[in-house]
Amino acid sequence: MHTRAHDSPGLIGAEHSVARSLAYGERPDDVYPRVLAAIGEALGWLLGSVWEADRARSPSIVCVASWQAPGVEATDFREITESIRLGPGEGLPGRVWSSGEPAWIDDVTTDPNFPRAAAAKRAGLHAAVAFPIRSRDRILGAIEFFSEEHREPDERALETMASFGAQIGQFVERRRAEEAVREAGELKRAMLDAALDCIITIDHRGRVIDFNPAAQATFGYGVAEVAGREMAELVVPPSLRDRHRAGLARCVAAGGTGDLLDRRIEITGMRADGSEFPVELTITRIDVPGPPKFTGYLRDITDRLAAEAELKASRARIVSAGDEERRRIERDLHDGAQQRLVAATLGLRLARRKLEQDGDEGLRLLDEAIDDVVGATNELRELARGIHPSVLTEGGLGPALDSLVSGCPVAAELIAAPEDRLAQGVESAAYFTVAEALTNVVRYAEASLATVSAVVSDGVLAIEVTDDGCGGADPAAGSGLRGLADRLAALEGTLAVQSPAGAGTTLRARIPCA
Ligand SMILES: Nc1ncnc2c1ncn2[C@@H]1O[C@H](COP(=O)(O)OP(=O)(O)OP(=O)(O)O)[C@@H](O)[C@H]1O
Ligand SMILES: [Mg+2]
Repeated sequence: MHTRAHDSPGLIGAEHSVARSLAYGERPDDVYPRVLAAIGEALGWLLGSVWEADRARSPSIVCVASWQAPGVEATDFREITESIRLGPGEGLPGRVWSSGEPAWIDDVTTDPNFPRAAAAKRAGLHAAVAFPIRSRDRILGAIEFFSEEHREPDERALETMASFGAQIGQFVERRRAEEAVREAGELKRAMLDAALDCIITIDHRGRVIDFNPAAQATFGYGVAEVAGREMAELVVPPSLRDRHRAGLARCVAAGGTGDLLDRRIEITGMRADGSEFPVELTITRIDVPGPPKFTGYLRDITDRLAAEAELKASRARIVSAGDEERRRIERDLHDGAQQRLVAATLGLRLARRKLEQDGDEGLRLLDEAIDDVVGATNELRELARGIHPSVLTEGGLGPALDSLVSGCPVAAELIAAPEDRLAQGVESAAYFTVAEALTNVVRYAEASLATVSAVVSDGVLAIEVTDDGCGGADPAAGSGLRGLADRLAALEGTLAVQSPAGAGTTLRARIPCA
């Protein structure tokens, strides 16, 4: 048995250099060459390599670092070493990696399990030793050394190498774990930086700890302006600050709990220039040791509220347009058909009385009454047609558009119309779109030609009405185009009007119809 007092000076020197390299080393890639040199020089080896399991192509190991003593000619052997990949049990490092035990080869050039034998022979290498790099629960790889002369296995040297393997393994494992933690931190930072929502983190006193780029852009602050400032002062309008501070204090006093947490609330935010805007906010307590810290996720909802208001207004317009239409029908019935029917009833009574006295006069009155009834019937039919065109109900969009185009006082052409029937609401919306567009052409465009096309593709009915008239159509100037936009919006469709002055008008409507 060896005791430390009898250890060769080489072994002790190697132990010291390895310990120093590991103590001051940062990354395994930097430390490996130094450890190889320390062991190789102290123990008189000429060439050494570190092998690690290749995570990309498991199970195999590859050479990740190598070292050679000054003056050694072994370029060819090193190139092969750095380019081959060994499986479990393959070659010297593969064997050590699989068994977890150090191994010694007296002469690699004659060893049956040494794939690099030919190159080793050319380099004049013979003896080799290898030991595992061992973490607490795994073999991470192996370290091998070569020399020119034949050497006998040395029990003490093998023992020391096993201990090097354990020290290096622990170092590698610790550094890898630190790297993983740092990468996770960088990943989280990158996620916060890329988030579209404003993310603001504050401490228990309400001071800003973190203010992500979206928050900087939305509120108009640079990152240096916000660090350490009270959040309330930065983003809460003055009139709401005291309430905010009281809420935070209550929440902190309750140990970081409260009914404001983890709920969506809509409040008013304030930009650096003092302007206010509506925001949606969710506050969560983040799970870190120490006094409570809170993260707020905020989103500017100006656009959403505007869209909601527009939707409300458009619904109101649809309702009032419906009411107006009902009033028109009532008026038309009252002034038209109803008047004629009343007149016809009177005429019939009169004719009945007259028939008893004067047959001819009675017949004339009867004829008049019949005319009145026929007129009233026609008027009712007309009225019904205005409410919903019967050609659309019966024939669908093709014939209905055809009748609009052929009845149009301006020359008009129907270029395309769908052959299949579509949902009733879609057909009506399309019909009224074309009807309104053509009416506008007749009233305002001074055009010589209008075209109409309606095409279904990819589940969307696309309608286009063009004219070569004076242009200048403006949805804001009347109720017709806006009413159309509302009608289409109710079907999730859209309306676009292109009408440069002097260059005609193109109206495009798209209605989903799948
Ligand atoms: N094809 C067109 N060519 C030129 N100007 C147009 C054309 N279509 C519409 N306009 C102009 O755009 C305005 C708005 O049209 P819109 O249909 O919305 O309302 P309107 O026709 O005036 O009223 P309503 O349709 O409610 O009877 C029109 O007043 C007209 O000045
Ligand atoms: Mg109009």
